[in-house]
Amino acid sequence: MSAYSQRRRLLAARMRAAGGGLALIPTAPEQPRNRDAHFPYRADSYFQYLTGFTEPEAVLVIVAPKEGDEPQTILFCREKNAERETWDGFRYGPDGARTTFGFDAAFVFAELDSKLSELLADQPALWFSIGHDAGWDARIAAALNRVRGESRNGKRAPPVIRDVRAELDAMRLVKDATELSIMRRASDISAGAHVRAMRFAAPGRFEYEVEAELLHEFRRHGCEFPAYTPIVAGGANACILHYVGNDQPLRDGDLLLIDAGGELSGYASDITRTFPVSGRFSGPQADVYDLVLDAQAAAIAAVRPGATFADPHDAALKVLAQGMIDMKLLAGSLDAVIESGAYKRFYMHRTSHWLGKDVHDAGEYKDGEHWAPLVPGMVLTIEPGCYIRPAEDVREVFWNIGVRIEDDAVVTAQGCEIITAAAPKTIADIEALMRDSRAI
Ligand code: GLY
Ligand code: MN
Ligand code: MN
Repeated sequence: MSAYSQRRRLLAARMRAAGGGLALIPTAPEQPRNRDAHFPYRADSYFQYLTGFTEPEAVLVIVAPKEGDEPQTILFCREKNAERETWDGFRYGPDGARTTFGFDAAFVFAELDSKLSELLADQPALWFSIGHDAGWDARIAAALNRVRGESRNGKRAPPVIRDVRAELDAMRLVKDATELSIMRRASDISAGAHVRAMRFAAPGRFEYEVEAELLHEFRRHGCEFPAYTPIVAGGANACILHYVGNDQPLRDGDLLLIDAGGELSGYASDITRTFPVSGRFSGPQADVYDLVLDAQAAAIAAVRPGATFADPHDAALKVLAQGMIDMKLLAGSLDAVIESGAYKRFYMHRTSHWLGKDVHDAGEYKDGEHWAPLVPGMVLTIEPGCYIRPAEDVREVFWNIGVRIEDDAVVTAQGCEIITAAAPKTIADIEALMRDSRAI
């Protein structure tokens, strides 16, 4: 049984455990860019997770099993169409999709509205995630109203609507073996792209030239897309957290912060490396860099089953805040700096997020007062940073130094596996790589 079929069965079992019903998971709409040109198409992550089917205009229906029955899975998708296939490319069509992807039934998308009323009648619950797409919300409301209109014929609309994404979020939080092997490969490719960028970067080159090297490396190894717009930030630009202009020349003496990862088979990698444009760290740059690297090591050591999502952040924060005090960026005791949030002037984001199909992946972080416990198979980033903008009360040697170091960690039985470790990150390793590539 494919990983996709297993996930559909698992979702159906979870629905059944919660009283049964029918789930509807649509894929993403195509997004127009201008006139008749569209943005590159990417299927919805939840839909992709359950189907592996990447054509637009499709929706998955899952009917939870009753006692002793099998669940039913139904795909609605585009019809075969010789003319459209000549212009736009191959389509599976319902029959091809059913046999290739293992659904119990498949119909053309145009039949969805009429079939939906039949399918919804007398179901104990509709599992749908309202509020993400106004078109789907309206379509579902209309379908429910059609069933309600049949009440005198003995039909009953589902009395309960449940958020199907909540179940899927819980499933997506822990990656299966298929997902982890794709994510390891996406990480290897992305680490290779960072190595390529380190070899290429030099004073006088533009940030976009470095970006082009990253994109080239992602694509030539099969990534469909960058997992997010690469941040290629030289000098002061590194202190702009979401800098994506990528249009400035690189200057001797500056650092270059690159936050970039490829997306492979629908899975993201997310890596940040910071290195000197010239190939040699200055003293103050090295001080800030090693502080962030120490904070990252402390955070990585805190990733293990039994710890919570907050533990790596707390570990990184202690190291960073103490370093800020030692470097006279901040005054006061460690507890006071953490308690007051004074450190946020130089470290204003958190240390981790879930990673998977989405760069900021599905899954809750907190349940009431309790941060999510880490369990094997979860994947999270570890990305401390320190960003020092010019200010009168900051020594000038630190001005415009922005450092972030980001790796991707899989929680294992013993601790964690850093799947992005192939991208160098000690000062010695970075300087050696840059020196060697310049000597050629
Ligand atoms: N690249 C986005 C992030 O690091 O969260
Ligand atoms: Mn990240
Ligand atoms: Mn990142």
